[in-house]
Order: sequence, then structure tokens, then C-alpha cells
Amino acid sequence: MCYNLSIKFEGDIMKKRILSGMRPTGRLHLGHYFGTLQNWVKLQDSYDCYFEIADVQALTDNYDNPEKVKNNVREVTIDYLSAGIDPKKSTIFIQSMIPEIAELTVFYSNLVTVSRLYRNPTVKTEAKQKKELFGNDGESITYGFLGYPVSQAADITAFKGEVIPVGEDQLPLIEQCREIVRKFNHIYGETLIEPNALLSENKRIKGLDGNKMSKSLNNAIYLSDSKEEITKKIMGATTDPKKLRKDDPADPEVCMVYSYHKLVNPNVEKVCSECKEGCRGCVACKKELIAAMEEYLKPIQEKHKYYEEHPEVVDKILQEGTAKAREEAKKVTNEVKENMLINYFN
Ligand code: TRP
Ligand code: SF4
Repeated sequence: MCYNLSIKFEGDIMKKRILSGMRPTGRLHLGHYFGTLQNWVKLQDSYDCYFEIADVQALTDNYDNPEKVKNNVREVTIDYLSAGIDPKKSTIFIQSMIPEIAELTVFYSNLVTVSRLYRNPTVKTEAKQKKELFGNDGESITYGFLGYPVSQAADITAFKGEVIPVGEDQLPLIEQCREIVRKFNHIYGETLIEPNALLSENKRIKGLDGNKMSKSLNNAIYLSDSKEEITKKIMGATTDPKKLRKDDPADPEVCMVYSYHKLVNPNVEKVCSECKEGCRGCVACKKELIAAMEEYLKPIQEKHKYYEEHPEVVDKILQEGTAKAREEAKKVTNEVKENMLINYFN
């Protein structure tokens, strides 16, 4: 009895479980950092966090480029770690190394109709964006791509993830997961947990040109960019186009340089008032931003350098995280199979 009590009060058991992940398709930029990673870092003290490197999901639209996915597994892990994900607090794992996720995907696929998947707004939007992969009419959409919401439901439920911190674009996937869970529990008995999305503060980070920051638009500042790259990018960032001379008053709200000052510069109010008053030139303003950005990114970049120079440490974190995650996924999968009456000889 006493023994049970002591287990019950162990830290992690009291904490709710978080599950989230990213596709390893490229290095992470400020959009990922301010939009997602910073939020994850905050959450890791109050939740039992599992952060996935979703390589199987990345392959759904990169199946013809396995090297890209492979190379980015370590890159993204280093970005997670540099941003402040602490492997002592959080579990980082590789999706493809948890075969139970693939097993659950197969079981759940009976609970979802093809038309429901076609209607999923996230699938729809992404299919449109991938015309070159799937053609205009969507006829050539792959089974794997269409079914990735099912696989994402397996990611979440394999760990009994209760709280899913995601951006707005992911809400239809969480909703679809909730439907699968309800249907599963209805047919096979109470087994899975219905997750709730936790919307990250809607910080949409704009790129250097004013569009949404993204790799494909070539307008991003990466966490791993060198000082020279950051300098070049900021010097070329879009400012208020109406400001023609150094001492013209301008509108900081339409200036990308100002939008980054807001994120990284403690003296942002001065930037704003001087810009409006016309007593600040854009070149000097950009130089100040470069210095502030450098200062802000310093601890991230120092960690980045350390992990890059110590790939064995990164591998160990991934291996240990994946082993721990797998134990969790096995427990849930056993319960699932038992309730689906496919646990023979047990
Ligand atoms: N679909 C997510 C994205 O593209 C990544 C992801 C994979 C995920 N598995 C997940 C997010 C589970 C939340 C929960 O960003
Ligand atoms: Fe932007 Fe600074 Fe120029 Fe104002 S002074 S337009 S904030 S770069």
C-alpha cells in the first residue's frame, strides 16, 4: 500500500501528457521558434511532454526524397534542443522507430471514411498546395497522403496525449483524431483519450518580404543562420516603402524590420517613436536590429554549435527518448489489441 502511494505522487504521474511534433523537412526558422518552439519550452515544466520528429509524415509528401527527410531528423532535433527543449524534462523521439504507431494507423483506418478524409480542410489545403505532386484534380493523391490524419491520430493516441499544442492549421487534424477516438471507444470500449488542442498564441511571424515566413518563399531567418547570413538578410528586409529619405517619418507597423524589433529588442518603444517622428534612418535601424537579434539568438546558437559538434550526444538523446516513447506506445497498443480482441495467446 505504502509503495503504491509513493508512486502516485511522483511528479510525472500528476502531470497531463502533451504530444506534438514537426516534420523534418528543413531547418527551423524564427517562424517555428516564435510560433511553436517557444511555447513548447514553456509547457515542459507543467506537462509531461513528448515531442515527435515526424519522419513518416514527412515522407507522405517527400517519398521521392528520402535523403532530405533523413538529413533533417538530426537538424530538427538540434533545433529543438537549441531552442530550449530539455531532454531531462521532455521526451524527443523518432516516429518511424515506433512501429506501434504504424500498427494503430492500420486499426484506425477502418474507422474513417475516404470522403471524410477528402473533406478534411487541412488535407484539402495541402493537396492544393502540392499540385506538382498530386496534379490539379487531386486524382493522383496518394493513399498515404490522404490518410495522414489517421496516422497523426495514431501519433497522439499511442501516448495517450491529452493536450496537443498546435497552430490553427492543425485543428482539423485534432478534430479528426477526436472522432476516431470516440468511434473506437464506442465500438471497442473505453480505451483511448480524446485530446484537446492547445492553440499557441497566434504569433504569425512574417518573412523578410512581408509574406508568411516560410522556407519555400525564401524569406526566412533560420535559428542556425550565421552572423553574416543574418546581417545580409536583415539589410535586405522590406521597410516602409513610403519612407524615401533618412528623416522621413514612417509607419513601423508596415515594416518587417520593426516586426523583428518587437520580437527581440527590449528598446522597441524607442524604435517605434523615432521611426514615427522621422528621426531614425533605416540603415541605422537595421544595424540596431542585427545587434539585438545576435544578442537574442546567442544562447540558442551556442547550444546549436555544441550539439553540432557532439552528434553522439544528439543520437543518445534520440535513442533514449525513442526507447522511452516506445514503451509507452507498447502499453497503449496492447490495450487497443486486447479491446479489439486480437491479443491471441495472452
Ligand atoms: N502535422 C504536424 C505539422 O505538420 C506535425 C505532427 C505530426 C503533429 N504528428 C503530430 C502535430 C501530432 C501534433 C500532434 O506540423
Ligand atoms: Fe522600419 Fe526602422 Fe525604417 Fe522605421 S526606421 S521604416 S522601423 S527600418
